[in-house]
Amino acid sequence: MNHKTYILGIESSCDDTSAAVVTDNGLILSNVIASQKVHEEYGGVVPELASRAHQQNIVPVVDTALKRAGIQPEELSAIAFTRGPGLIGSLLVGTSFAKGLSLALRVPIIDVNHLHGHVLAHFLKMQPDDEVPEFPFICLLVSGGNSQILLVRAYNDMEVLGQTIDDAAGEAFDKCAKVMGLPYPGGPHIDRLAKNGDAKKFKFAKPHIPGLDYSFSGLKTSFLYTLRDQKVLNPNFVEHNLNDLAASLQATIVEILMDKLRKAIDRTGVNTIAVGGGVAANSAVRNAVEELGKKKNLKVFLPKPVFTTDNAAMVAVAGYFKYLDKEFCRYDETPFARVKV
Ligand code: KG4
Repeated sequence: MNHKTYILGIESSCDDTSAAVVTDNGLILSNVIASQKVHEEYGGVVPELASRAHQQNIVPVVDTALKRAGIQPEELSAIAFTRGPGLIGSLLVGTSFAKGLSLALRVPIIDVNHLHGHVLAHFLKMQPDDEVPEFPFICLLVSGGNSQILLVRAYNDMEVLGQTIDDAAGEAFDKCAKVMGLPYPGGPHIDRLAKNGDAKKFKFAKPHIPGLDYSFSGLKTSFLYTLRDQKVLNPNFVEHNLNDLAASLQATIVEILMDKLRKAIDRTGVNTIAVGGGVAANSAVRNAVEELGKKKNLKVFLPKPVFTTDNAAMVAVAGYFKYLDKEFCRYDETPFARVKV
């Protein structure tokens, strides 16, 4: 008789089709990600192409995840899927697949908020004794679509203390990178170029937003205008200053992020911080958070690079904790595109 819990996670919110199996205590058995190359030539994700690619990838990706986990579909306890936020067409592929498989296997489905998944990725374990954060903690969630500061009180209890009122941090990286002529997504390229640049060479506008909310649209405009004005004087301005522009831009984004994170810590008095989302892969963000941790004597949790990007392991672990609470999803629930915390 099988007493183990096996949760299949399915992630299809944007341009990565992923499936993973997680067992008791968040232990990962498999995590398969099929990234879509089709968008590269367009300089951004094309929703219609993303949905079609998910449709092609989902069966082999789930099949591989189950095989790598060494389990049969009949052994699954539940199927967790990303319900949103994300691209509706993409979400529909994962949602419909999860519903179909759950009906065939007669196991429950569990809907997962993609953002909660990024936060709960910190409870994924490669080894049973891996350390995980203690509640409550502050999570800086920085991805291509969202920038939030969350107070995490329990697995299924999170409060948004602040969030972006316009662009996300990842968007700021990507849009400025595009203006510099870098490929999509530009964040990792900025990170790489910044390593050889002078972060103090250029100054860009920083927002004055009250509370713990973020704004990145002013920075984007300021960056755009600097390049436009300088290119009049020197048509090769960007090429001549690539590393310094990247370093200065990155430093400004990090300063904006850290300013509010510092305030959130002072306001709540929590002593643990975690970072999640694609921008959590950024080396300057990681260094700044580590430094803040040392300065304020905080425990810091930085995700492994594979868990910063979209992955189904984080969906499976978030689903696991809902499974323990018997929080299942009805079959008439549909995906949502916009943030809902
Ligand atoms: O979380 P994610 O994979 O997708 C969303 O759910 O939005 O985040 C993707 C974002 C992109 O904007 C990408 O440029 C950014 O994360 N990113 C980075 C780095 N790696 C990924 N930004 C800055 N530095 C990096 N090293």
